Amino acid sequence: MVRKIGVLTSGGDAPGMNAAIRAVTRIALNNGIEVVGVHNGYRGLLEGTFESMDRRDVSDILDRGGTKLGSARLPEFKEPEIQEKCIRNMKREGIEALVVVGGDGSYRGALALTKQGINCIGLPGTIDNDIPGTDFTIGFDTALRTCVENVDKLRDTSSSHHRCHIVEVMGNHCGDLALYTAISCGAELVVTPETGYNELEVLEKLRYLGDAVRKKHAIVIISEKICDVDALARKVSQQTNFSGRATVLGHIQRGGSPTATDRMLASRMGEKAVDLLMEGIGGHCVGIIENQISSMPIDEALGRPRASRKHLYRLFDRLV
Ligand code: ADP
Ligand code: F6P
Repeated sequence: MVRKIGVLTSGGDAPGMNAAIRAVTRIALNNGIEVVGVHNGYRGLLEGTFESMDRRDVSDILDRGGTKLGSARLPEFKEPEIQEKCIRNMKREGIEALVVVGGDGSYRGALALTKQGINCIGLPGTIDNDIPGTDFTIGFDTALRTCVENVDKLRDTSSSHHRCHIVEVMGNHCGDLALYTAISCGAELVVTPETGYNELEVLEKLRYLGDAVRKKHAIVIISEKICDVDALARKVSQQTNFSGRATVLGHIQRGGSPTATDRMLASRMGEKAVDLLMEGIGGHCVGIIENQISSMPIDEALGRPRASRKHLYRLFDRLV
């Protein structure tokens, strides 16, 4: 039976990570398992920045964005010598197993540690919703709420001034945040890695909306890392009837108090992680699939294609 576990948050932070830390800590303590918080992701394993956690250490964090433990990226964690040093530090601290809250990069680190004898469980924590093995990640719903609140505001001013607002949202290489925002806000156009990007087509569509449909304003939601939205807005002003403006929502999407949906998800996933470790299982990741909490081996999850969003792109097209 596992006696002491660690918990860390890794990669880009996401609202709801604190709720996951709280759930792991409280549920483990309630089962007689000691808990160590590891600061700043895998960097904390390397530097030995550990914090023994009691139930009060996770009081008043459920509603807080960010992560109490800090998060970081440690590229050198891929090197076997660095992993061995981390394992030595964990053993010295008596940490027998670990819960890692992060994205697919963090999952790979968790798998590497499991292969070297430290059972690890991955929880999907990222606003990008880009992790295989789950329908939704912790943080996505809150980021979506932020996007929707902001785009609704942009629509107000956009309609007063008959403008086209190009709004860039995060998501890394996944279009979910853009697609869900576009549907929720009634955008005129959505551009994501899944739709592909053709500047001429975007301008043509906006000319059509301005000239033929006689729309007075338009909202275009575009995933990050696709194009220079300021340059696109200038072309919109030059080549269509709309005056173009660009807004990059940026890191605001990573902050804020988590929604109840994210708090629930993180609490349910945290519970599952502790249950798996108590069963002696490692190298798994937790997911929610068709509203059921489940788990599968990390290497199986990483090899799986993500569920298709074709039906949602079709819905978007049918709503415009
Ligand atoms: P995310 O977990 O959000 O995908 P990253 O891809 O930046 O974010 O990964 C977070 C951290 O996970 C990295 O900084 C590194 O410490 C660790 N990591 C990423 N890929 C690997 C890998 N292939 N092997 C071991 N550790 C990895
Ligand atoms: O993975 C979360 C995320 O916010 C992505 O959406 C974005 O591309 C990236 O992290 C930004 O990273 P950083 O915090 O290093 O700027």
